[in-house]
Amino acid sequence: MSRISIHGEWSSRMAFILAATGSAVGLGNIWKFPYMAGQYGGGAFVITYLLCVIIICLPVMMAEVMLGKRGKSSPINSMQHLAEETKQSKLWVLLGWSGAIAGFLILSYYSVIAGWALAYVPELASGTFSAVKNMPSTEIAPFVDSIFNSLVENPVKLISWHTGFIIITMIMVAGGVKGGLERAVTFMMPALFIVLLVLVGYAMSTPDFMQGFHFMFNINFENLLYPNCNEQACELSGDGLLAAMGQAFFSLSLGMGSIMVYGAYLPKDASVSKVTTAVVFADTSVAILAGLIIFPIVFSNGLEPGAGVGLVFKTLPIAFGQMPFGTLFGTLFFVLLVLAALSSSISLIEPVVAWLVETGKFTRITASILSGMVVWLVGLTTVFSFNIWSEFKPLGGLNLFELIDYLTSNIMLPLSGLLIAIFVGWLMKKTIVAEELNSSSFSFGYRIWYFLLRYITPFGVSIVFLNAIGVFS
Ligand code: PFF
Repeated sequence: MSRISIHGEWSSRMAFILAATGSAVGLGNIWKFPYMAGQYGGGAFVITYLLCVIIICLPVMMAEVMLGKRGKSSPINSMQHLAEETKQSKLWVLLGWSGAIAGFLILSYYSVIAGWALAYVPELASGTFSAVKNMPSTEIAPFVDSIFNSLVENPVKLISWHTGFIIITMIMVAGGVKGGLERAVTFMMPALFIVLLVLVGYAMSTPDFMQGFHFMFNINFENLLYPNCNEQACELSGDGLLAAMGQAFFSLSLGMGSIMVYGAYLPKDASVSKVTTAVVFADTSVAILAGLIIFPIVFSNGLEPGAGVGLVFKTLPIAFGQMPFGTLFGTLFFVLLVLAALSSSISLIEPVVAWLVETGKFTRITASILSGMVVWLVGLTTVFSFNIWSEFKPLGGLNLFELIDYLTSNIMLPLSGLLIAIFVGWLMKKTIVAEELNSSSFSFGYRIWYFLLRYITPFGVSIVFLNAIGVFS
């Protein structure tokens, strides 16, 4: 028997593609992917990331959309229903819960970083970075460093921007599926793509474009396997592989319920394989473009590719400071980055808001306010990680922000992905799966997907996990 979503549906297949692309494309592509690729040495990270996207994440994404389409409600209630329907343990509902918790944790820091992007809008609009035009090249890096540091070292500024971003997110979520979301992503995603292409054009004109290109596509597995290499010692670590896989899950918004809840709003006749492939393609292209923009600027201006979380906030303003109409393009870019972050942040909180509404005790508005307040509070840990608590490293030498990021991206998301693969690949009836995918279980595409999901995904995720905890070393 087919269920109906109480939250409404996307008006078309295209609306789902845009919303899911909006969820996938965000800070993960433009902020996180380049700095992680920089920290893990470039090419090897990029290639491993691409492999994870294709053989592990694409099959999981189809499975996750399919679960949502079958369950037709928040991930918590969908998993409860699906566990009953499949006659499996009630404990499968924990998959929905872990997604909801991961969403809170991710959004808590996501909002702080999106706050940086918000803060950069007036900074660019006022032409601060035009100063780099007349600077000797040796002064450029310290100049951009100082602007970035004066932001992150100031908790009051960070809290204000974090609060602003959470409020905008909650207003959009309170607006509902069609009203806020669908309309926003329809113009935003194409606009972001155009600005990115302009920036690629600029990066290609810098003298170090090829160096940037090589950095991204030259495979140097040593840097991935030995990220902490120095002259004295090279410590073997599976962390680079784990980071690449975690980033693939994060970038595609997988294992968290976002994609599942968006799948719940999908019309019955939509083809899951086509829409997911489109989303994966768009998301991966944006990440690669972001890298192609950032690394040439890094090499042309004496910055460090491994500079960490501030990388994008230091490289791009240099480009905007130097290019014609840079103030205009720069402002536009950071506005679009905020919007891209917004279309992701709403998907981070939607699973919880949808669940609260389904309990029957809250309206969408109160559910949004309540969850926004909790996320805001947890976000303070990230705010302080960059200043007053920067030396507080409770576990593994990581501060609270790094710990939350590590735990969610590298552990919770891939682990949920693994469980999704097991549930759909091994426990659900093949006929139901094929029906929801609008496919015949004998078709060639279906059989490849099913094989990847049943064997390759669980194997791949397990190997990367085991490697990271040092089983093979
Ligand atoms: N995919 C988003 C990005 O790359 O910025 C972040 C994200 C959104 C992660 C939704 C997880 C999620 F469920």
